[in-house]
Amino acid sequence: ERGGFQHFMQKEIHEQPKAIRDTLTGRLDEDLQSVALPELSWTDESLQAIDRIHIVACGTSWHAGLVGKDAIEKIAKIPVEVDVASEYRYRDPLVTPNTLVIVITQSGETADTLAALRDSKQKGLRVLAITNVVGSSAAREADDVLITWAGPEIAVASTKAYTTQLVTLYLLAAYLGQARGTLSSDAKAEVLGALAGLPTVAEQVLDAAPRIERFAKDYQEARDTFFIGRGLDYAVSLEGALKLKEISYIHAEAYAAGELKHGTLALITDGVPVIALATQTHLYEKTLSNIKEVKARDAFVLGLTWAGDEELKKSVDEVIYLPRTSPVVAPIVAVIPLQLLAYYAAVVRGNDVDKPRNLAKSVTVE
Ligand code: M6R
Repeated sequence: ERGGFQHFMQKEIHEQPKAIRDTLTGRLDEDLQSVALPELSWTDESLQAIDRIHIVACGTSWHAGLVGKDAIEKIAKIPVEVDVASEYRYRDPLVTPNTLVIVITQSGETADTLAALRDSKQKGLRVLAITNVVGSSAAREADDVLITWAGPEIAVASTKAYTTQLVTLYLLAAYLGQARGTLSSDAKAEVLGALAGLPTVAEQVLDAAPRIERFAKDYQEARDTFFIGRGLDYAVSLEGALKLKEISYIHAEAYAAGELKHGTLALITDGVPVIALATQTHLYEKTLSNIKEVKARDAFVLGLTWAGDEELKKSVDEVIYLPRTSPVVAPIVAVIPLQLLAYYAAVVRGNDVDKPRNLAKSVTVE
């Protein structure tokens, strides 16, 4: 049942090229001119009327929401807020009658996310669920549903659900942008082209597995690790740190790279592993200077950037090169080495990879 892999998590990481392809199928037309989401019941009028979006989710799905905000704001020009469901429920969010609420939940059964869905419906708001489970509570109760076609995810640590949530959010952003006339033809070519290329790119990133395994072995005794990045790289850092904590039990923190010097830099000392993401071209120089700051404190830095970059390797100890694609969809590519890092760290430490301590696949209590 694990298809020759040692753990479900490993299998699910390697299934991502297929999962991404399945999520795109039927939604992206062949000549990359438009996105179709026929499952949405929105009329053109209701679609034009959306004046803000609230994304609500937990854990990894919340991290997907952070990337979704960026994509929707950039591509569809609708203001988006992202909340963890356990906060959203109790903070009395400011909504308008035309606020669209998007809940993201792999299982479709997370208690806090479902409560946010129900509260929003009670307020008369339109709710869209992005879920991986057809027939789940979220799928049944939301007004509209987009299924992430990742296939069953068994490991507690979410991997292919996250990347397919991202694909779905990019599709949604492009769909909203095309309907509202905010998607320029350049942006269309960039985003839709990058999405179409993702299955191949994801396949290529998986080739980094042996190097990451070696890195995980060298750093298995680490007590603290830091993931740093700016913009979308910060969102992916949060996901990388969560994954590492969840299954390897190594303490990890994600930091917006520019925020380090406001306190956390005090923890960066000789040999502390720092995973530095530098995929955002427009933020590259700024991130590089933050990387130099941690290097100056003798951190051990593993950098992630695009193939062909000659600069980063001068300032870090090791580099993982990502096959080139648009920085807009970088999170889908950059997260894969971080999933592998968490996986191998958990394996070398002898942990129960698929069933980490204290955690459940689906959190059905508050
Ligand atoms: O099923 P959901 O997407 O609603 O689950 C939300 C979180 O419990 C989940 O993403 C959790 O953070 C993962 N175990 C992280 O790998």
